Amino acid sequence: MIIETNQACDLVIFGAKGDLTKRKLLPALYKLEKSKKIHEHTRIIATGRADWNTQKYIKIAEKEIKYFLNEEINIFIWKKLSSRIFFCNIDVYKPLDFFRLKKILNEKKNIIVYYCAVPPNTLDSIFIGLGNANLNMIPSRIVLEKPLGICLKTSKQINDQLSKYFLESQIFRIDHYLGKESILNLLALRFANSFFFYNWSNETIDHIQITVSEEVGIEDRWNYFDTMGQMRDMVQNHLLQILTILTMDQPKDITSESIRHEKVKILRTLSPINISNINKYTVRGQYCSGFVKGEKVPAYSEENGANKNSQTETFVAIKVNLNNNKWSGIPIYLRTGKRLAHKYSEIVVFFKKNPINLFKNSQSELLQNKLIIRLEPNANIKFDFIHKIPGLEQEYKLESSQMKSNYFHQKYSKNIIDAYERLLFESIRGIQSLFVCRDEVEEAWKWIDPIIEGWKNTENNPPQLYMSGTWGPKNSDLLLAHDNRYWHEFN
Ligand code: BG6
Repeated sequence: MIIETNQACDLVIFGAKGDLTKRKLLPALYKLEKSKKIHEHTRIIATGRADWNTQKYIKIAEKEIKYFLNEEINIFIWKKLSSRIFFCNIDVYKPLDFFRLKKILNEKKNIIVYYCAVPPNTLDSIFIGLGNANLNMIPSRIVLEKPLGICLKTSKQINDQLSKYFLESQIFRIDHYLGKESILNLLALRFANSFFFYNWSNETIDHIQITVSEEVGIEDRWNYFDTMGQMRDMVQNHLLQILTILTMDQPKDITSESIRHEKVKILRTLSPINISNINKYTVRGQYCSGFVKGEKVPAYSEENGANKNSQTETFVAIKVNLNNNKWSGIPIYLRTGKRLAHKYSEIVVFFKKNPINLFKNSQSELLQNKLIIRLEPNANIKFDFIHKIPGLEQEYKLESSQMKSNYFHQKYSKNIIDAYERLLFESIRGIQSLFVCRDEVEEAWKWIDPIIEGWKNTENNPPQLYMSGTWGPKNSDLLLAHDNRYWHEFN
């Protein structure tokens, strides 16, 4: 077991030149430096195949941080951070190169954290290289990005290979949604509020909608995205994480083991979707050109490097059913896509209407209690409740009004930190609770694989095109309309 520590650490980044390092890791490290969360003797060892030295890498890192940080860079903070950075030239396919890294690591007795910000097909050589050079010993840790593999088989291969060199307690699998404040708050909302605790099952809930909508396209990541699609990129991990946290039973305590145990139980109860029912339960789409926030954007098939005939989905909507006593009969609708009308993530819980309606005017038939949990942006929680319209009329007239809690921004806006900042910090401390365990990843693939397989076998039914800047293909609305429901509107 790894013990929580504030010891100095050597953070080794594989993929120092890559997209993730530029966009997320470097800005997160800057912010950790700013909030004095990095130990005095911690070092950052960036690795890559490029023929760079430390000076050159520091210059590149400075440029990227200036570009991707959402604030002015402070020269003193940057000086401190850059003094920790070293560049080590490693070709991960050459095991002998790892001895160069070993030499640097041996200069100190720091805890070592390897951060693999690389594509899944490079991971194997990293594990082997570290193992050969004996750099995998406890208390080193290894952080891996999602998605782990592209299907159950490849994911198992990575996990099997990984387990030859590292114990599960050394492995930190990232799903950055687990580092988001609003997702962490779901546990408090569900298990600290007795009102929700007692009203969270098929006895009181009618259905749930989870939307994670993005304005961005594939951001120049054709090769990555075209292999993954929105299903592997977003549903296999982020959306299933939200779904499991939202529906799992109360864990025995809030340790990582107990929470992961409950989440895995939910993943095992997901009703299978495959070729036999794929058209009933799933919709996939691909964006064509259009306008997002007034700006013209190209179609998916016109993106840099595109294969014009690609049938990769950039939008997915799924009706999910859970096979357990608590949730059976309650659909959970998932929706996620790129180049949609607005960037936002939201959960809407629709409560059942009362079985007997005392207030028989036409309006009251339509009213329903809803809990609207906005995860991003501007996280907040709203509850739609029904009340009498004041007045002298004999008949009761009802309407719905909204209670809104803005607690995040009113009181704690300064405390909100970026997900990567939190997850880097936790991996350096050695706390695993915000990371995903092997069983979760593999159970998620077990459910996802037959859907992707099913789509492949319905090639006469390709992704439906949707115009960029809209809410996705028409069939997404029909998925709910078949059940006499509609997507909760963004506002
Ligand atoms: C990443 C995906 O995991 O999450 C991206 O690879 C996606 O394609 C991103 O855009 C969305 O993250 P967030 O935090 O902006 O919702």
